[in-house]
Amino acid sequence: MSKTRIIAVSNMKGGCSKTTTTVSMGCVLAQKGYKVLLIDLDAQANLTCSLLTDEVYSDTIYTSFIKQTELPVVKLTDTLHIVPSSIELACIDLEIGSQLARERYLTNLLAPIKDNYDFILCDCPPSLGLTTLNAFTACTDIIVPLVAEVLPFEGLKLVDWAINMVRKTVNPEAKLLGVVITQSVNTRLCRMMEQNIRQSLGDIVFKTNIRNNTTVAEAPAAHKDVVSYDKKCHGAIDYIALTEELLTRINS
Ligand SMILES: Nc1ncnc2c1ncn2[C@@H]1O[C@H](COP(=O)(O)OP(=O)(O)O)[C@@H](O)[C@H]1O
Ligand SMILES: [Mg+2]
Repeated sequence: MSKTRIIAVSNMKGGCSKTTTTVSMGCVLAQKGYKVLLIDLDAQANLTCSLLTDEVYSDTIYTSFIKQTELPVVKLTDTLHIVPSSIELACIDLEIGSQLARERYLTNLLAPIKDNYDFILCDCPPSLGLTTLNAFTACTDIIVPLVAEVLPFEGLKLVDWAINMVRKTVNPEAKLLGVVITQSVNTRLCRMMEQNIRQSLGDIVFKTNIRNNTTVAEAPAAHKDVVSYDKKCHGAIDYIALTEELLTRINS
């Protein structure tokens, strides 16, 4: 691949599979041989806990933001690296809110290392604070996971507004790469909402839906992505298909 794709996985709504999608797609890409860096930008550190042990890391994305020290990269495998997060990140807006170019911290921290990777995936928090703004400023692409229910669909409008705002100001290159329907269940409401989403958003919605699958929710307890945990379960099959679709979309 020629240029590093920096992908922010974002939705202002919590619980819509942002972390699961970041982890699963990142791990599938790494298993295919792409060099992948996953950055945990959420103070809840769910991505960190999903793949690394429960140990508390002293050097995290937070320390790099505060001290302007190089990103602490944990090498899980040759192709899969992770920048952990910690609860201290919860106060980052208060701590750097008055600093100049506060939205460019991540861009600057990535500059010396980004060429080492094919993909950098940023797991964003469910808010439009400075961490999300940093991801949107550094990124080439944005992926929005969306649960096909009534209220999450409303949340998508906020992401759309944020992307337009970012494109007009700090990052004209940022583009919505795709919307992925997650936690899909075979109910009348879900089918109806999916139809609405596909009708109103068109081809930007990935063809692959991620089905609701208990195995997906179990995998983090074993500190594994769902494909390494059980490659035959619906969640693994769907995330492999989604990653193939992502690669096709990027290369077309
Ligand atoms: N396809 C799925 N099937 C079943 N459970 C899922 C699926 N995707 C995510 N989950 C579970 O739903 C919860 C929220 O997912 P998560 O990825 O943490 O969302 P977010 O990062 O958007 O808050 C987690 O407990 C996760 O394990
Ligand atoms: Mg999350």
